[in-house]
Amino acid sequence: MGRLKVISGALEKIAECKLPRELSFGKIIAPAFVECDYRDGKWGELKLVPYAPLHLGPEAKVFHYGQEIFEGLKGYFVDRAGPFLFRPDQNARRFNLSAMRLGMPEFPVSDFLESVTAMTYYCKEIIPTKSGESLYLRPCMIATEESLGIKPGLTYKYFVIASPSGPYFTGDSIKVYIERERARACPGGIGAAKTGGNYAASLVSGKRAQELGCGQTLWLDALHKTYIEEMSGMNFMSVIDGAIHTPAMTDTILDGITRKSIIQLAQDFGIRVVEEKMDINKLLEQVAKGSCTEAFACGTAAIITPIRGFVEGNGSELAFKSAESKIAMKLRQELLDRQEGRKNAPADWRVLVDKL
Ligand SMILES: Cc1ncc(COP(=O)(O)O)c(C=O)c1O
Repeated sequence: MGRLKVISGALEKIAECKLPRELSFGKIIAPAFVECDYRDGKWGELKLVPYAPLHLGPEAKVFHYGQEIFEGLKGYFVDRAGPFLFRPDQNARRFNLSAMRLGMPEFPVSDFLESVTAMTYYCKEIIPTKSGESLYLRPCMIATEESLGIKPGLTYKYFVIASPSGPYFTGDSIKVYIERERARACPGGIGAAKTGGNYAASLVSGKRAQELGCGQTLWLDALHKTYIEEMSGMNFMSVIDGAIHTPAMTDTILDGITRKSIIQLAQDFGIRVVEEKMDINKLLEQVAKGSCTEAFACGTAAIITPIRGFVEGNGSELAFKSAESKIAMKLRQELLDRQEGRKNAPADWRVLVDKL
């Protein structure tokens, strides 16, 4: 037994919830959520409550100074196997690294795990059951102190909302827009934290990407505008002469859980993985020459999404010679088989949520 308290009405609301036939990503929000408040230096009760708007003063620090962090993970219940969570301990760990960078209090790992487990357990009947679908979980922490001084808040709210979701990308592959002017993160900044500011910094470029027919923005390092970092909501990988090449971790890149799982899977299959500084111009030459045969985006939401080409700000495009994406599609299937419960996964990867 953990310490989560179920507040009257929450389970009834979930029981009444009906899903539409077609689900998109993140549009439907479960009618109950977990919350926990921090004041006087400690976290209070952990509660499952009926869905309701949050009441915050307009001067709450989160609105002015962006003191907020979040996580994203999925509950899987494909063909009613599970439900499973995938490496939630890694999300708990990263949540607290983000908290530390943003000057926020740590959230106890046991409470983080209990809250995502409880959301999955109680929402079991509203988890969609086709491969690629899931219950997307969004743990979040915001500074709620109502005061305009620029300093870390004294009060916070932690909450977890859930969204029964279809796949993030519905197409087979995407084009990516190479952002050569703006920067998302700089050394010593907050790029490695999962915090709203990084996403805010990406939105204008996201609009440009969309105008150019691209599904994502590819970010380069802020200093040289040369080295590949990641995309706005996923990590980057490519296949060069049969090996996977991915940018090495720095403090400007989010340490993706999907990325590290793919590295392990690929190595288990005997595929060489190189984590290195990757020059965008060299990569484009390798694509043109044909030695770089694939590239793909990876992340919890995207799973693995093949990239079919790169687009510059002036609209010029460079497409892969073949659209086959053999390695990306194999890794995607192998990863999903482990997340959705069809194949054995390393012991700490898949957590069965059959009890609380
Ligand atoms: C900026 C960014 N990079 C990478 C990722 C991939 O991380 P993960 O695989 O842990 O979902 C995400 C997704 O959360 C992201 O938002």
